[in-house]
Amino acid sequence: MATTPHRKTILITGASAGLGAEMARQFAALGHDLALSARRLDKLETVKAGILAAHPETRVELRTLDVTDDDQVFAVFRGFKADFGTIDRVVINAGIGKGAPLGTGRYDANRQTAMTNFVAALAQTEAAMEIFREQDAGHFVMISSMSAMRGLPRSMTTYAATKAGVAHLAEGLRHELHGKPITVTVLYPGYIASEMNDQVDPKKIKGMVSTEKGVRSMVDAIEKEKDSACVPALPWAPMSVVMKHAPLPVLKKLM
Ligand SMILES: NC(=O)c1ccc[n+]([C@@H]2O[C@H](COP(=O)([O-])OP(=O)(O)OC[C@H]3O[C@@H](n4cnc5c(N)ncnc54)[C@H](OP(=O)(O)O)[C@@H]3O)[C@@H](O)[C@H]2O)c1
Repeated sequence: MATTPHRKTILITGASAGLGAEMARQFAALGHDLALSARRLDKLETVKAGILAAHPETRVELRTLDVTDDDQVFAVFRGFKADFGTIDRVVINAGIGKGAPLGTGRYDANRQTAMTNFVAALAQTEAAMEIFREQDAGHFVMISSMSAMRGLPRSMTTYAATKAGVAHLAEGLRHELHGKPITVTVLYPGYIASEMNDQVDPKKIKGMVSTEKGVRSMVDAIEKEKDSACVPALPWAPMSVVMKHAPLPVLKKLM
């Protein structure tokens, strides 16, 4: 059995699939208890059943949550806090990968991405920080993306902007909380297999890794409470330098 971890109870949004579900499984294996939310309760129940089959000692509480419903975000976060007494870590993970080139009549898709990935992340941050300020303790984790490193073209433009936005939101908090007992981690995942990219041929995406491998790297960075991490580190840490600094003609050849 795993020893009791430092941050016992972890709240994860978007835990019904992909990276969120796999983080839940890997955190359970490390001895954490879990507060899991998403819109699809059936998928959450399946994740919970898998975790309890492997780690029966784990406490797993589930709540349905559409993160674009502000009132529900606050109610669900407060509900989890009431369930456990203390929430030690919050992972803001729920997100969508929709988008279309700007000015091509798909404001609906870009707006939905902005509302889910940025405005809803702001609501989740407010709700998490209410809990952490009251406890005077907690670990705040924001799931950004490698796409945050530079403005990106076409269907990625709005998505990349939301991911840069949430990274800055979390960095601002880190600045404010420096020296206090609330820590902030921002993760920049590269391509990791999940529902979000299951329509794309993995062979066509350079650097795509399995859900398990990619999430292992995420969980490792989170457990170490790193300030920021590109995950997996290879190739994404060196790639972040290229993405930030390459002249546009070079960048256009890469992506
Ligand atoms: N996979 C990658 O390569 C990659 C790379 C960089 C960053 N990321 C980021 O990692 C996070 C997880 O993505 P993923 O790849 O695991 O995607 P995914 O497999 O599509 O899973 C997305 C999760 O977010 C939840 N979600 C979506 N909209 C929601 C809403 N309105 N309210 C509540 N939950 C919602 C989904 O649950 P329900 O549908 O049940 O609500 C699901 O659990 C996202 O923030 C994504 O931007 C992923």
